[in-house]
Amino acid sequence: MSYRIHSFEEYQSVYKNSVENPEQFWADIAKQFHWYKPWESVLEWEFKTPSVAWFKGGKTNITYNCLDRHLKTRGDEVAILWEPNNPENDAIRLTYQQLYEEVCRTANALKSLGIGKGDRVCFYMPMVPELAIAVLACARIGAIHSIVFAGFSAQSLADRINDSACKAVICSDFNARGNKNIPVKKVVDEAIAIGCPSIEKVLVLQHTGDPVTWNAETDIWWHDIVPNQPATCEPTEMDAEDMLFILYTSGSTGKPKGVVHTVGGYMVYAGYTFENVFQYNEGDIYWCTADVGWITGHSYIIYGPLLNGATSLMFEGVPTFPDAGRFWEICEKHKVNIFYTAPTAIRALMAAGDQWTENHDLSSLRVLGSVGEPINAEAWHWYDEKIGKCRCPIVDTWWQTETGGILISPLAGLTPLKPTFATLPLPGVQPCLVDASGNEIEGNDVEGMLCMKFPWPGIIRTTYDDHQRCKQTYFATFENKYFTGDGARRDSDGYYRIIGRVDDVINVSGHRIGTAEVENAINEHPLVVESAVVGFPHEIKGQGIYAYVILDGMVPDEPTFKKELLATVTRIIGPIAKPDEIQIVSGLPKTRSGKIMRRILRKIAEGDTSSLGDTSTLLNPEVVVEIKDGAKR
Ligand code: PRX
Repeated sequence: MSYRIHSFEEYQSVYKNSVENPEQFWADIAKQFHWYKPWESVLEWEFKTPSVAWFKGGKTNITYNCLDRHLKTRGDEVAILWEPNNPENDAIRLTYQQLYEEVCRTANALKSLGIGKGDRVCFYMPMVPELAIAVLACARIGAIHSIVFAGFSAQSLADRINDSACKAVICSDFNARGNKNIPVKKVVDEAIAIGCPSIEKVLVLQHTGDPVTWNAETDIWWHDIVPNQPATCEPTEMDAEDMLFILYTSGSTGKPKGVVHTVGGYMVYAGYTFENVFQYNEGDIYWCTADVGWITGHSYIIYGPLLNGATSLMFEGVPTFPDAGRFWEICEKHKVNIFYTAPTAIRALMAAGDQWTENHDLSSLRVLGSVGEPINAEAWHWYDEKIGKCRCPIVDTWWQTETGGILISPLAGLTPLKPTFATLPLPGVQPCLVDASGNEIEGNDVEGMLCMKFPWPGIIRTTYDDHQRCKQTYFATFENKYFTGDGARRDSDGYYRIIGRVDDVINVSGHRIGTAEVENAINEHPLVVESAVVGFPHEIKGQGIYAYVILDGMVPDEPTFKKELLATVTRIIGPIAKPDEIQIVSGLPKTRSGKIMRRILRKIAEGDTSSLGDTSTLLNPEVVVEIKDGAKR
């Protein structure tokens, strides 16, 4: 497409132009997409309310752009290449023509269930082609998808279903991961038993074939209603600012919030960033190892690649099954050209030993990507040397659920790299660093809190059903700026290096977990009086979860209690939020006004007790000594 940048010099001049004439810049890109009706204004915005509208008045459908538009030119090319969990089973290839037909059938099936424009549909699915198909089917008819990662608990699923009053859930019977079949339908049943009054239908894909319990009133098999539908379905004309999807994400306070993205801006942004960051070339085999349950899967497994007519590889399984060479075996088998994964996976595979990389032909690889958390130098170099053989640029892509797509990243092969640096903003993106009082920190070789001072098309529009929360979380901290929650450094070349969250959010294996959420779950255990959760550096996961808990009376048996506590967290949030360390304490360090001093707890969890600072002004300085002595690290 003609929004492609071809050299670093071009990047520099395009960047300058994008800041000077943002509307012209984005209009030129948006024109590359299909619109039923052109927009009336490119951008209307103010960050106070906030209110942001891109391509207002424009009518489009993202699936027309992902599918219909490619049928004449590349109908027979592979859109989705699916690699199953079990390497002995066959891969599935869906061409653009086939994907189009499957999406239309599924869209018609959803309509037959009474689902239409504006209805919310929840997904709780494994990584199977039908997940992508059904997501696109929603977008085709204007239904709003809300995908919940299938590792979350029934309680978390119920909370998310209820927050946006979803009309239906789409799930599978079971999920095949490694050598286990994990019940999925059962979790949906449990969520509904907790109470999901808005749910009318549960559409169930038979995947592993293991038996499930059936509720004849709500449950429908996918194979009973999808295959016999007509293979065409007119796309619903959507307003650029109609909702495309909701995706729940954790913050520093309260329950996860539903981040809302809208059709037009998200589409333009996902398409533009995919092509430029990865320097995607027609015919490339592209593989992003994320789960579609997270934003990376939305933007860079489904929408971004399909908008560009790419072949997107979708992998059902895990990196270590049947062995730690699986990723590299898949790269070899499908001749993957662009590979995009998370530092946590890189570190885990690095720890498994170089031998797993050595017996695979990785010569097809041209571009490597990293996402989700800061990549440490050791992992960066291992990725570069052992996987990229020192000839593939690594794009360290910084972005968030709320940003819709990548904001700061090298353009593969164009931007000169620096290990562990996300480098420079994409054209159209205007970052800045601010100090604690909200003053912009100018110049280079500085550190501060990362903000954006101008909107880009993929920016969050609201948090579902709670606009105040959106304002409070992202737009109220610093006037006239979108606040990311991350700290960053800008070096002498103007390159950005992301340091990590500056709020009470922990990044565990690239998954965002709010400490308050984990504390609330821990406090559900009948013996727990109070708890405080902090992150600590973890060799594989990036950050681990460290929980300090105060108990009501004596603990009968510590190992049994800890097991129960982990089970409680698993039941309420899911296994990803299980603490790595639990320390039973008699008190938590508090200020005289009763605020927990997390800074001290973080230091102790990190194993750094040399610089705890002055603790004498605390309400209870004596507990610091006790906690230090009992610390796990
Ligand atoms: O702290 C940053 C970290 O992940 C957060 C966003 O998490 P989430 O919304 O789940 O989206 C993850 C995938 C885009 C950010 O606030 N993060 C993401 N990418 C990077 C990163 N930290 C450092 N380097 C990155 N490349």
